[in-house]
Amino acid sequence: MTSRADDLDGRPGSSPGEALPGGAPRRVFLETYGCQMNVADSELVRGLLARDGWVVVPDPAEADAILVNTCAIRENAEERVLGRFTQLLQHKQTRPGVQLGLLGCVATHQRERLLDRAPWIDLIVGPDGYRDLPELLRGGTDPRIEVRLDRDETYADLAPDLAPGPRAFLTVMRGCDKFCTFCVVPFTRGRERSLPAEAVLEQVRSAVGEGKREVVLLGQTVNAWRHDGLDFGDLLRRVARVPGVERIRFTSPHPSDVGESMIDAMAGEEKVMPWLHLPLQSASDPVLAAMQRGYGLDEYRRLLERIRERIPGIAVSTDVIVGFPGETEADFEATENFLRETRYDFAYLFKYSAREGTRAWKIEETVDEAEKGRRLERLIALQEAISLERHREQVGREAEVLVEGPSKRPPGHVHGKTRDFKTAVLPGDGIEAGDLVRVRIEDATAHTLLARPLGIASTLEGVGRSASVTRESGRPEGDVTSR
Ligand code: 5AD
Ligand code: SF4
Repeated sequence: MTSRADDLDGRPGSSPGEALPGGAPRRVFLETYGCQMNVADSELVRGLLARDGWVVVPDPAEADAILVNTCAIRENAEERVLGRFTQLLQHKQTRPGVQLGLLGCVATHQRERLLDRAPWIDLIVGPDGYRDLPELLRGGTDPRIEVRLDRDETYADLAPDLAPGPRAFLTVMRGCDKFCTFCVVPFTRGRERSLPAEAVLEQVRSAVGEGKREVVLLGQTVNAWRHDGLDFGDLLRRVARVPGVERIRFTSPHPSDVGESMIDAMAGEEKVMPWLHLPLQSASDPVLAAMQRGYGLDEYRRLLERIRERIPGIAVSTDVIVGFPGETEADFEATENFLRETRYDFAYLFKYSAREGTRAWKIEETVDEAEKGRRLERLIALQEAISLERHREQVGREAEVLVEGPSKRPPGHVHGKTRDFKTAVLPGDGIEAGDLVRVRIEDATAHTLLARPLGIASTLEGVGRSASVTRESGRPEGDVTSR
């Protein structure tokens, strides 16, 4: 299965990774960049390597293999990760037996250039090559490369090693067939494919068995999930039937794949949380067309109206790109106006970054970096004001928070998410990660709700403890940041 660079370009091999003397467990350090899909892929890799006898260590200085799972979505993400990878070379210089591997989207995107930039690299493994990682790490001629995309690989049979905390991120479909003109994902992650419903349900049951209370179903266009005649709405309904699951979310759906079945499931299933991330990208029809997003603004607007009618109070977030080639001031203002009209709860805002291999790569850029920066700043300021208004509307209301752990600030506080995916910070007396806590919202910043516990609705063990509700919550110094 594995293609090797010396097959490709005749490079001489360097030292292969060798088994440790005395049968000591081999230690791996794994660092992850990018989206939740990458985080979930790293959990998969950890699970795979653990079954092959590897132990995950928190410090690269202790590791026999150092792996970096990378993101290629924008140029600065890619450059940051390559810079970090070069830094990690120091470990190989001091301990020549150490193997350095680059995983993920940069592996597929930069496969040719990586060997020039990092000739000392031992492994280059793309998102569809993880099944081979244990074998690749056993050694061979350097560098070992597996960057082929596989139309069938879903890893449905492999158990991920889930990160601690009450929430599990579970991949239900991989790849993307949309080919938006700006996006590198279809090239780095390949074609769309869905896990069978039963495999998803098994992962959900297993996550619940580990104490998870919330599952987030993941896919590049997650609502394109379909298998054996079932659609994404059917999947949501089935997941909601798994005993022990208390909260279900999903990200990221594509507007063109939103069907009645999905909306019905969101409206009808109490466990499907009232939050929808619905990427817009631009509110100008000519820009949407140039991006080949597959919808026009009116269609998007009507869809959102329908969703808000069916699920009153639903929180909605979005993604926007500024400075796509050809975006005029008027196009940009259309996006600004639409953000004002729609009042998203929050938004991830990006400057367009030309990615080699995409269709937009060939279109000449018309908005310079300084102007992209100005447009971005304008949208950030606008969205921050809207987010703050939306948060303030919640003051005085009750909410339910799933506690994730201690908050950075203020001391003694914990943080978690409300049902509509807002970050809440509350005094932590008697409260533990995994508790579902009824709170009253007392204050708000653009990023955080400040809450007071009213009582613990239920704990992980299902034992209803009552919280001590004595301390007033204070305003944290720093906001919880979004992407
Ligand atoms: N430049 C800027 N932003 C991008 N995104 C995807 N590709 C690019 C790009 N080339 C953004 C989109 C997408 C989110 C995950 O990343 O908004 O929804
Ligand atoms: Fe990229 Fe578009 Fe696919 Fe999303 S739908 S991953 S933006 S190509």
